[in-house]
Amino acid sequence: MGMKKIEVIIRPEKLDTLKKILARNEYSGLTVMTAMGCGHQKGLTKEFSEIGLDANLLPKLYVMTVIWEEDLEDILAEIREKLSTGNVGDGKVFISDMQDVMRIRTGERGEKIL
Ligand SMILES: Nc1ncnc2c1ncn2[C@@H]1O[C@H](COP(=O)(O)OP(=O)(O)OP(=O)(O)O)[C@@H](O)[C@H]1O
Ligand SMILES: [Mg+2]
Repeated sequence: MGMKKIEVIIRPEKLDTLKKILARNEYSGLTVMTAMGCGHQKGLTKEFSEIGLDANLLPKLYVMTVIWEEDLEDILAEIREKLSTGNVGDGKVFISDMQDVMRIRTGERGEKIL
């Protein structure tokens, strides 16, 4: 069983929903950062397109968590179900392999310490 890192860019008001999804799957560790970003629409709102700016960064939250590979598809499905509003700007999940982890206090290594 391996580990996956998911980096989830979300609307700020969806943080609680995402935290609940992770908690229900028995994950407690996560890192949250405030972020600014844009996607395909370049963050354009009517107001900005009128004054001719070519990109506009909108406030988002960046949530990083490392999970067991076997939980990945369930968590992605729940994110899809609960964080989609149907409007542009709902965010993205970047998924990558996580090779190893060390708990600083004890030096323990590997997926068992998640
Ligand atoms: N290719 C990317 N690389 C890094 N961050 C991205 C990328 N695409 C989107 N993001 C981040 O995700 C946030 C939300 O993106 P967004 O949901 O608007 O993506 P999108 O591809 O435009 O999809 P949609 O058409 O549903 O809006 C952005 O503000 C940005 O922080
Ligand atoms: Mg977009």
